[in-house]
Amino acid sequence: MKNKPKVIIDTDPGHDDMLALLLLEKSDMFDIKGITTVAGNCTVENATNNARYTLDLINSITPIFSGANKPLQRELVLADVHGEKGLDGAKITKHEALSNNAPEKIIEIVRTNPHEVTLVTIGPQTNVAKAFILDPELPSLIKQVVMMGGAIEVPGNKNRVAEFNIFVDPEAADIVFTSSVKKILVPLDVCNDISFTLQDFDVLKKTNLYKPIKSMMSSYIQGIQTFEKTSGALMYDPLAAYYLINPSAYKTQPMDIQIETSSDLTRGMTVADRRLWGEKRNNVKVVKKIAKAEFVHDFFEILMR
Ligand code: RIB
Ligand code: CA
Repeated sequence: MKNKPKVIIDTDPGHDDMLALLLLEKSDMFDIKGITTVAGNCTVENATNNARYTLDLINSITPIFSGANKPLQRELVLADVHGEKGLDGAKITKHEALSNNAPEKIIEIVRTNPHEVTLVTIGPQTNVAKAFILDPELPSLIKQVVMMGGAIEVPGNKNRVAEFNIFVDPEAADIVFTSSVKKILVPLDVCNDISFTLQDFDVLKKTNLYKPIKSMMSSYIQGIQTFEKTSGALMYDPLAAYYLINPSAYKTQPMDIQIETSSDLTRGMTVADRRLWGEKRNNVKVVKKIAKAEFVHDFFEILMR
């Protein structure tokens, strides 16, 4: 693991989370210090079991640290898309013990490796916000946070304006977005344009992953069609993960974004100041474009390894 970039992945697996975890693990490019689980797509118990299932598919020994079972202040709102236990189509047989120490582990790993750790958040940001509350100096010690979340110029996927991860815990997102850490945001604007059909996964036919992935993707595609009225497997979290693998495939723009935490109508909106005039306090680099062909090629090439 020596000299590989250090990464923590905070996740609520979730079908697309599962693929993002496989992508980063199988890329063999990173020293993944830990996978921290958070409630969002499903309960933190199910998210933790689903993370274990995912790592067991590839015999990974990356440690899993469970975290928040609900948002900082609000009641938990689960997703519908991923099914009752968050990973429909998977044969979950193991119940992973809950360590309930994700924020503390994020602090420990970052403080042991100051300025070296990239934090990937692909679920609600409750664990990260708790870590920042516990250790206010932490943002200055993290290399960067790469976040799947938000909707800038497109409708939300959880309410009319908000993306699910930010919607679930807007207060947590507000803590992260107002912190000093370097932030990269991969919003719905670019995620909506990249999805796979069930047949696309046939390229994995000769691999051990083919059967479980086909089963999970079949459920995921049905869930997306039912609840998001979209065809295909949307690749939200793998697009955040791929930023670490090939950042040159991404075009970003610094933006001034604030999180809506007061209104019920616009709860969780990533409110960007898009006016062409007036002072801006740019706090996040927002992905505006992704080289789709590069992502598709590398995604399947890595999963086929
Ligand atoms: O809005 C998409 C995000 O919400 C993805 O991270 C998906 O896994 C869900 O958590
Ligand atoms: Ca997720």
